[in-house]
Amino acid sequence: MDLGSGFKIKKGWKDYKILKFLLELTDSKIIPIRYSGKELFLLDQRLLPKKIKWVCIKNASQGIRAISNMIVRGAPAIGITGAFSLVLAARSFLNKKGDLISNLKDAGKQITNARPTAVNLKWAVDRLLSQVDPEFNPKEIVDILEQEALKIWEEDIAANIKMAAFGQKLLPDPVTVLTHCNAGALATGAYGTALGIIRGAKDAGKRIKVFADETRPWLQGARLTAWELLNDNITCQIIIDSAAAFIMQQGLIDAVIVGADRIAANGDVANKIGTYSIALAAKENDIPFYVAAPTSTLDINTPTGKEIPIETRDEKEITYIGKTKIATEGVKALNFAFDITPNNLVTAIITEKGVLRPPFGPAISNACTA
Ligand code: MRU
Repeated sequence: MDLGSGFKIKKGWKDYKILKFLLELTDSKIIPIRYSGKELFLLDQRLLPKKIKWVCIKNASQGIRAISNMIVRGAPAIGITGAFSLVLAARSFLNKKGDLISNLKDAGKQITNARPTAVNLKWAVDRLLSQVDPEFNPKEIVDILEQEALKIWEEDIAANIKMAAFGQKLLPDPVTVLTHCNAGALATGAYGTALGIIRGAKDAGKRIKVFADETRPWLQGARLTAWELLNDNITCQIIIDSAAAFIMQQGLIDAVIVGADRIAANGDVANKIGTYSIALAAKENDIPFYVAAPTSTLDINTPTGKEIPIETRDEKEITYIGKTKIATEGVKALNFAFDITPNNLVTAIITEKGVLRPPFGPAISNACTA
């Protein structure tokens, strides 16, 4: 069967069970990752929606580059890619001299550093490394890592479907939602977090409309969110980022739903730059501000948003549009990829374990231990 992005399900591939599982649960067929057993394939998100191109990842260095270059993006999707990059690293170490476990730990560090803000990347790499027992032989270690990476992927899809069931109940009917960046199928193992809830509301029969911020500078909203929603026949209009506050003031929005790259132990949320401004405008206009994230995005080891590392990216992402320089010659740019929304602006955090409400400290701690 064609998955709608030019890639058929193949029986001999190691992702077969996961894709079957996805198709049993939903008809949303967009998926950003495929795994044959030997190689990882990533849907090149820099080219969407103009072009559908799958990039073949054969080793960990290619996986790391794909994460930092934004071929794959979105916290859960880079977590899954990081996990498979470690599997590819482990396989390459089979024919190499040296201690397999310390080589794996080094590779794990390099993978984790590819993008520092999304905690899902470190979480996935650490989860794989925690499975490695020095008693196992190298071949067994590769198999165990591969099983764990597949499990992380499948669990992510299951979490998104559960989140959608909890989250859609919070929305009235009819409803107009504002979202930022892309927290959809492309940003996860499939189905999406914020967009998963929107899909869930539509499947529950609610009349849902979406405003998507275009999301400078990578335009994840205009390119990816709009593409996903139109593919699923959900009404979507894009707006420029700076229009969000005015549109809320006009009474056009019933709820904001965004994803997250990391949520600190106190409920402060790191997400795509611009999220904080949206949360401020939502508070001012009495609009609920929901964050949708799996528990793999909750970071109980980081007490508050102040300690979350914020990625800064190349100035050229701002001074150029595509290959055309738009900024004045010689001007500098400051390119924070994420910002922190303080917990007092968050109405609720929707996870696969349920809807967390303030005070977020105890709610997050319970969700991480339950
Ligand atoms: O820079 P990106 O595109 O990786 O940023 C993605 C986001 O900010 C998403 O909202 C977040 O990762 C959640 S994805 C389910």
